[in-house]
Amino acid sequence: MLESIPLISGTLFAAVFGSPVAHGKIISLDVSAAESMPGVKRIFTYKDIPGKNQIGGIVPDEPLLAEDEVHFDGMPVALVVAETQEIAHAAVKKIKIDIEKHTVITDPRIAQANGSLIVPPRTFKMGDSTKAFKDCVHIFEGTAETNGQEHLYIETQGAYAIPAENSSLKVYSSTQGPTAVQRHMAAVLGISMHRLEIDTVRLGGGFGGKEDQATSWAIFCALAAWHLKKPVKYSLHRMEDMRMTGKRNPYSSDFKIGLNADLKIIAYEATFYQNAGAAADLSPAVLERTLFHCTNSYFVPNVSATAYCCRTNLPPNTAFRGFGGPQGMFVIEAAIAKAADALGITAAEIQQKNLLNTGDEFPYGQKAVSEASACWNKAVDLYQVQKIKNEINSFNATNSLYKKGISFMPICFGISFTKILMNQARALVHVYMDGSVNVSTGAVEMGQGVNTKMLQVAATIFSIDTNKVRINSTNTYRIANTSPSAASATADLNGKAVQIACEKILLRLKQSAAEIFKTEPAVIDIKDERILVHNQLTDMTWNDLVIATYLKRISLSEHGHYATPGIHFDNTIEKGHPFAYHVYGTAITTVTVDCIRGIYEVDAVRLVHDFGTTMNPIIDRGQIEGGLVQGIGWMTMEEIVYDKEGKLRSNALSTYKVPDIYSVPKNLDIHFLETANDNLAIFRSKAVGEPPLMYGIGTYFALRNAIKAFNPKTAIAFSAPMTPEKVLMGLYSHMERAEHIHKTSVGEQLIPD
Ligand code: MTE
Ligand code: HPA
Ligand code: MOS
Repeated sequence: MLESIPLISGTLFAAVFGSPVAHGKIISLDVSAAESMPGVKRIFTYKDIPGKNQIGGIVPDEPLLAEDEVHFDGMPVALVVAETQEIAHAAVKKIKIDIEKHTVITDPRIAQANGSLIVPPRTFKMGDSTKAFKDCVHIFEGTAETNGQEHLYIETQGAYAIPAENSSLKVYSSTQGPTAVQRHMAAVLGISMHRLEIDTVRLGGGFGGKEDQATSWAIFCALAAWHLKKPVKYSLHRMEDMRMTGKRNPYSSDFKIGLNADLKIIAYEATFYQNAGAAADLSPAVLERTLFHCTNSYFVPNVSATAYCCRTNLPPNTAFRGFGGPQGMFVIEAAIAKAADALGITAAEIQQKNLLNTGDEFPYGQKAVSEASACWNKAVDLYQVQKIKNEINSFNATNSLYKKGISFMPICFGISFTKILMNQARALVHVYMDGSVNVSTGAVEMGQGVNTKMLQVAATIFSIDTNKVRINSTNTYRIANTSPSAASATADLNGKAVQIACEKILLRLKQSAAEIFKTEPAVIDIKDERILVHNQLTDMTWNDLVIATYLKRISLSEHGHYATPGIHFDNTIEKGHPFAYHVYGTAITTVTVDCIRGIYEVDAVRLVHDFGTTMNPIIDRGQIEGGLVQGIGWMTMEEIVYDKEGKLRSNALSTYKVPDIYSVPKNLDIHFLETANDNLAIFRSKAVGEPPLMYGIGTYFALRNAIKAFNPKTAIAFSAPMTPEKVLMGLYSHMERAEHIHKTSVGEQLIPD
């Protein structure tokens, strides 16, 4: 949190002037009135950039500051630096700009039709879907839409840049990727990376929003600090943050699903239109993960899925918990729901029959080591699903103003960055002569508990008390070339690097002890800070051994490097083995819909989640709870609205509803399934950051089932979020039913027991 960094006196404050229109040519920019305000130090434009005006990570298509064109409402055009935040904001309002307006496109399908793609389309293929459809008994087609999602980290984007010695800068950045900040900052300032110390203490949340999009704010501070030789801070106002930063990519998709007489899914085709916004940002990688997860937790032998990365005039959309996976999974769940409706069965019958088995191939070539059925079956037994269904049926038979619905949501999520090279991490471990330990890694703590996990790794390997270990801030001078803390892989990658470093030091300590006890290192153990020889306790403590080893001039420091083994991917054929392992789970969701008002409650989410062997049940439970509720928010209430001019209408918390305590399921049961299959997770504790978000998709389908219980003929579209307005329209998309309810509701109790 930047708030925890004490301000140096003389610190200046920045604010950005963003384009007032979403697409156009800049005719003139007048900063004179703003510049002459008392307290304003200087106003910067792209002309003040000493290096390259470019911050695009995957595709170089994103200027830091607009030059002659603007591509989204809020696109940074000028940077004001003033004595106070208030003056900076007031000065922003005095900047005048004249823009020749161009056509604004906000719809990805229109962008695709116009040929406005950021990268060429990608297609994942397995088997022959065209041929397989000919053998299908049932074929269903449709479309599905998912909206974006505001990250709404508690701490908004921000940074604090401080000039340092020898033409260098120290920059505190609220980023998931200190190296990305360092790399782009160096390019913009036209200096080498070794002059930039990026330090990240901990984030008040990131959720993917600070994987790539923390960079510009840090560079703004750095640019001003570089020119003015003064510390410069910028913490965005919530409304600035909402307007100027990208969100989860909305998708519009087409599907076609084919089943045989046994309800096996034989063929699946999908076309994804991803709304990338005005620049690539991480969208091409997000798009790729949509394809990786387009068949969710099911085995489908014939698949063809194509994805378009569509350029629109919205702020560049970006990583968000799940990283395109949820968007892909929603579509196949919609396809299954559509098939189930038409066949007059429950979606669960189709889902259950098609769960992945070990050895089944994903469309991208990797073979599954599947826990899908283990999770599903455990959930069915443990939660007595038949009993729940009976209760729902009898409730629905006796209530006409309230209806309940149930859904199953199996998940399967691949762990590793889909870009192979990013799957590497480093750690620096120092054992001080008093026995205390200091650990630095590339991991950024953002509430997911990674620092605690790093602490556990060091304490476990050394077998010392956790109080003896300290985790440092994430800093580019201590750890270089880091991958962002993302892809749920932070604890695995950095934890393994810590493990490697600690094991190297441990070996030297054991060698040192062996010399002292005149024996072999193999018979030395350290347990609870005591040295054992041949499993016999000795008088020597951890502290004794550390100092004895230091006195022998042996290094007590180590730098560990880890690169995930065995992963590869060839994107010329779109096949390989990209994931270290997969995480599985099944959630059973039950909801109650108020059929007069369209409002609803999530009664219960009961889930079984594959943890491998959790190394910290409290943290992992927190991740499941938070991820689930964030997923429920995305699926039910969080409604991002851009108008036709590309202006964000849901630009404050008064117009953008996020889950609160009342949105949390009334009952939340989490079963920790310990799975025995080998995995590459740290201490076999599978990654848990993103997967639970996708359980939230179950809430959408449970609501849909409740609506169908009220109005079996409802023509409700597959369009998330399922807001109360949409529920209401779904409930009454049939007039006869509406009349019926009008008649029967007279005298009926409004609130059921
Ligand atoms: N949990 C909290 N409290 N805050 C966050 O910002 N980010 C999520 C998830 N859980 C996040 C979180 C996202 S998007 C990811 S990728 C992972 O945490 C990143 O951390 P991990 O790799 O350590 O799981
Ligand atoms: N997940 C999250 N972030 C990423 C990925 C990914 O697979 N690839 C690049 N950045
Ligand atoms: Mo998470 S979307 O990979 O930061």
